[in-house]
Amino acid sequence: MNENTPVRIAVLLGSLREKSQHAAVARALQSIADRDVEIQILDSIAAFPHYNADVQADGFPQCVVAMGKALQETDALVIVTPEYNYSVPGVLKNALDWISRLPEAPLSGKPVAIQTGSPGSIGGARAQYHLRQILVFFNAKVLNKPEVMISQLASKVDVESNTITDLATIEVIGAQLRALAAMAREY
Ligand code: FNR
Repeated sequence: MNENTPVRIAVLLGSLREKSQHAAVARALQSIADRDVEIQILDSIAAFPHYNADVQADGFPQCVVAMGKALQETDALVIVTPEYNYSVPGVLKNALDWISRLPEAPLSGKPVAIQTGSPGSIGGARAQYHLRQILVFFNAKVLNKPEVMISQLASKVDVESNTITDLATIEVIGAQLRALAAMAREY
């Protein structure tokens, strides 16, 4: 990649809620990222049907095809998601299951970073490590550090203005986006 070309980072959201705190994090990323980074929030996964091989046999749903194309076109991906019952939300797993069936394998070799949050003190760590395991199948290049696990998330985001109000969180996210962009430039 030419060093003057902006790095395109797509964002996949694991929460469907309109006033999602994770959506607020995702919407704040562009203001935190360096100027050589373009953030694009991907379409919601709400439209993905439950994975069914019979449906796949009749043709991939249009939303899945569009997601695959967007993932292929991006230089890197950030997955921003809550933790549900110590793991990845079912809707996100379902979307990943669909994406994993796409013949073009859009995440293979793709730099990916993970951001999780929680109302408690663990910051979604358990979901984050499950997600890492899932991404092994995709042959994604998952960034190891810095890890972004936002504890007490509600007190650190403003869902009305889509901003992050906690300086330490802004700093770690900025460092992660820089590391991800550097990884994308290497590939
Ligand atoms: C949760 N939550 C939660 N939090 C956590 O830290 N560990 C967990 O295992 C769970 N489990 C869980 C299951 C289900 C079904 C729900 C609905 C919620 C709380 C969860 O972290 C919180 O709802 C999200 O952080 C909110 O994110 P959004 O939707 O505002 O982005």
